[in-house]
Amino acid sequence: MLGYNRWTPGKLIGTGSFGSVVFGLNKDTGEVMAVKQVPVYDIAESNTLERIKALEVEIEILSRLQHKNIVRYIGSSCEDEYFNIFLEYEGGGSIAKLIARYGMFKENLVRRYSKQILEGLEYLHAHNVLHRDIKGANVLVDSNGVCRLADFGGATKIYNTANTESGLYSSLKGTPHWMAPEVIRQTGHGRQADIWSFGCTVIEMATGRPPWAEQKNLFAALYIIGQALKLPTFPVDFSEEGKDFLNLIFKRNPNERANVRVLLNHPFITRSLGSQKKIKSNELRRHSTFIKDPAQYGKQNLNNEKNKNGK
Ligand SMILES: Nc1ncnc2c1ncn2[C@@H]1O[C@H](COP(=O)(O)OP(=O)(O)O)[C@@H](O)[C@H]1O
Ligand SMILES: [Mg+2]
Repeated sequence: MLGYNRWTPGKLIGTGSFGSVVFGLNKDTGEVMAVKQVPVYDIAESNTLERIKALEVEIEILSRLQHKNIVRYIGSSCEDEYFNIFLEYEGGGSIAKLIARYGMFKENLVRRYSKQILEGLEYLHAHNVLHRDIKGANVLVDSNGVCRLADFGGATKIYNTANTESGLYSSLKGTPHWMAPEVIRQTGHGRQADIWSFGCTVIEMATGRPPWAEQKNLFAALYIIGQALKLPTFPVDFSEEGKDFLNLIFKRNPNERANVRVLLNHPFITRSLGSQKKIKSNELRRHSTFIKDPAQYGKQNLNNEKNKNGK
């Protein structure tokens, strides 16, 4: 138990559906952590109870998981007005934050992040855990570009160990635009619902928005995904390989949808485009003297692109 005598809260890092996430410094070890906090003072409110319950589920599940693509759980505590969960701090923040800050990703980065998200999902599914809220805001990135699945507040453990869709869960969990049709219809869902949400995250990374983002009315969005026969629009400039990959994911029938293993073996994942050239430090130095004002960096790139295109 990490009490206030052993850690100090710092500035706000993020907010989500279940409270806020702040920096925390472990006063003994000097470790910098992310601390997810849920206020307990209005415990009489059913919503608070629900939030604390979700946090307990998150702790129960996360504390048993150990994988390079899953956020590391450090500990938890309940003190004064907060219930706290201590997590390894991921310097890049979430994929959603990166998109908001730097714009949508090039296909090669989408491939690299997708591979890591799938590896995290493979581990979860092998351990009978459904995440149930895969989306850009719940995938964190560290300073080395390693992705980690986070936010297990909606996760659940499944007790049928076979990789089948029988013995399914039917509660409405997730965030509407990333939700699989079977989750919305509440006809029972399993591992394959995470695959659909992952597909929506691929679209989010490639276009900056999840599928059906133009649909601002929540009920209309739920209807389109749950009932209508439409499938999401694929990123227009995606390679044929990318479109084939998405085709395997966006099957309305979860039994026809590719599972995590199949996707990990798809060329979209196994064949990263263009070798990752490491930038040498002297190249970086040359570059940094060239950019006098970092605020101009984006504009400069834009101008280079325009020149290249002869515009
Ligand atoms: N370990 C972490 N490192 C860095 N940022 C984090 C970490 N955990 C959460 N965050 C930030 O806080 C946000 C909310 O956290 P999340 O666990 O998704 O909570 P919620 O259940 O409220 O959605 C994330 O989208 C992310 O921006
Ligand atoms: Mg979240």
